Amino acid sequence: MDRVTVATRRLSTPKDEDHCARLMSTSEPWMSLGRDYTKALAVVRDPLAEVYIAEGEGQFAGFIILSLVGVLNGYIRTIAVAHDMRGRGVGSQLMAAAEERIFSQSPNAFLCVTAFNDGARRLYERLGYEYVGELKDYFVRGTSELFVSKDARAVGRARGEEIGEAGTADPSRSLPSRSEARKGSG
Ligand SMILES: CC(C)(COP(=O)(O)OP(=O)(O)OC[C@H]1O[C@@H](n2cnc3c(N)ncnc32)[C@H](O)[C@@H]1OP(=O)(O)O)[C@@H](O)C(=O)NCCC(=O)NCCS
Repeated sequence: MDRVTVATRRLSTPKDEDHCARLMSTSEPWMSLGRDYTKALAVVRDPLAEVYIAEGEGQFAGFIILSLVGVLNGYIRTIAVAHDMRGRGVGSQLMAAAEERIFSQSPNAFLCVTAFNDGARRLYERLGYEYVGELKDYFVRGTSELFVSKDARAVGRARGEEIGEAGTADPSRSLPSRSEARKGSG
């Protein structure tokens, strides 16, 4: 399928909120985690969150929720792409917009991905996120969340920018296999 180019903007209307909550509550991993429409709406309306909407081909294409306050400065809380637009580059563009916002005020972007969410794990690895650790039984007993992060300085290195001390990729920070991590929830 062809790549779709999206524009991102801040969430601003009840209709935006409805689109996001509807998408979240009808997508894995949240269905398995029991996040229904009402719970999803509460996440979208969190006053401490920044929510960005992606629009492409004249329609709602997805969203991403960021936390940029306190110890969670740089946390990518949630990302989802409309069912019929997945695999067309929307998620990558939302992640790029999120990183631009985060790296303007924090050196690290980080997020949790449920161990069973193979597709999302592939995406984050491709974008340069490194494994930090495993949160066992975090949302649901018997499932793990994998904590991953990306360092703004690594982005600079990839662009060939001078950033001071040289760094090398640490092989111990690649994501563990599914069998290493407990089969997870989201
Ligand atoms: C994960 C997700 C945000 C990726 O968005 P996307 O627009 O499909 O991603 P892109 O097109 O930019 O990149 C495609 C990559 O996403 C990953 N991917 C994950 N789920 C996918 C799906 N259903 N279809 C296609 N690609 C998917 C793959 O790694 C793929 O890379 P590859 O082609 O090298 O295998 C999207 O699939 C989604 O909304 N999934 C459901 C919600 C979710 O899992 N959110 C993440 C919670 S941590």
